[in-house]
Amino acid sequence: MTLDVRPLAESDLDEAWALGLTAFGGEPGTPRRDAPHRQQWGAFEGGRLLGKASLLRYAQWFGGRPVPMAGVAGVAVRPEARGRGVSRALVRALAASAVAQGLPVSALFPTAPGVYRGLGWEVVGSLDETRLAVSDLARLAPVPGVRLRPAGEDDGPALQELWNDAASAGNGQLTRTGPLFAGGAAAEALEAEVVTLAEVGTAAVGYLSYDRGRGYGPDSALRVWEMVARTDLAARALLGTLGAWDTVVGGVHWRGDTGDLALLLDRVVPRPYETRPWSLRLLDPDAAVAARGWSADAEAAFVLLDPEAAGTGGQPERAVRLVVRGGDGRLEPADPAGLPRLHVRGLAVLFAGGASTVRLQRTGLLDGPLPALDAAFAGPAPVLLDYF
Ligand SMILES: CC(C)(COP(=O)(O)OP(=O)(O)OC[C@H]1O[C@@H](n2cnc3c(N)ncnc32)[C@H](O)[C@@H]1OP(=O)(O)O)[C@@H](O)C(=O)NCCC(=O)NCCS
Repeated sequence: MTLDVRPLAESDLDEAWALGLTAFGGEPGTPRRDAPHRQQWGAFEGGRLLGKASLLRYAQWFGGRPVPMAGVAGVAVRPEARGRGVSRALVRALAASAVAQGLPVSALFPTAPGVYRGLGWEVVGSLDETRLAVSDLARLAPVPGVRLRPAGEDDGPALQELWNDAASAGNGQLTRTGPLFAGGAAAEALEAEVVTLAEVGTAAVGYLSYDRGRGYGPDSALRVWEMVARTDLAARALLGTLGAWDTVVGGVHWRGDTGDLALLLDRVVPRPYETRPWSLRLLDPDAAVAARGWSADAEAAFVLLDPEAAGTGGQPERAVRLVVRGGDGRLEPADPAGLPRLHVRGLAVLFAGGASTVRLQRTGLLDGPLPALDAAFAGPAPVLLDYF
């Protein structure tokens, strides 16, 4: 029997919700939240729902520009129907729909990278959780000149600007705009129990958002959602407020990258206790290259391999020249003779930032030297704080 893959109708949503609860171990009976901006798809056989997946319209910062991105989430297949290509059919349908909607890249948090690798996604980063000791933060000295106060609704524009500045300076963060973020980045930050704003004079220089957690004593821990700091003084002042919890709290669960902490703290930053890898796919490489920003001029020719390209209107193999001039990039046709061959998964790894072509050669994603691409894609390693 053939699979019918189509957007879910209103009448399918309860069944899809139940399938998601079963697949991900949610509490039975959890009421379905209305999520009008999730585009939900189902795979049916003989009218019976076998699997479902959602497409979320986001945009991600790359090279200082927002790139429209299709978030893929909630992929779930009935236990009896697994191993027969149901999720593959669903994700292919989502990919084709994303390109038709003008979304040239796609990101997802895979429960297993192998599920999406054959379809062209590759792991480019991870969203980590790290437990710090509050006592390590208590050692930070007070910072004169930085004023700290609770942030409120009136601080929305300042919070939004701080997020925009920090997120756009890196690769991978969501813009937190569009229908899935009705209140923008500010509303996202203000959802936390404690939101502290750091100011110098009247200028906002950073914020820290976290939940207190329950209980008190060494086992009790704060949950930090995010810290955005324009300066080291702002970072030190905000971190100091976490340290000041040391009478009642033993730890801090830190979400995301700890690279700045490693440079600010006098203690060794522990390894993450939880890691959630995320994968990227260039669904439409031409549009993705044109949409992102670039920091250096570059030129490099290669044969781009994408076995799944036909599903999104592309070719499985074509010779291209990446040309970056004055902050704009494009892919032009090239003569294939003698060119190194780059897999589209390798291009995703480079596109995300902070990786090298030498690594791609070591892992079979590139079959010859292509150092010009290192310069083109040099840039901050990717960071993505929003789990979906
Ligand atoms: C993971 C899951 C969605 C796979 O669905 P499926 O219909 O059995 O997958 P398919 O038969 O379409 O296989 C698609 C690819 O995934 C791979 N795959 C399937 N199950 C896998 C597993 N448990 N581990 C690693 N790879 C797996 C297949 O080998 C195939 O790879 P290929 O395209 O390179 O041949 C399904 O097992 C499931 O619902 N699991 C529980 C929820 C979950 O983990 N969802 C994924 C959220 S990111």
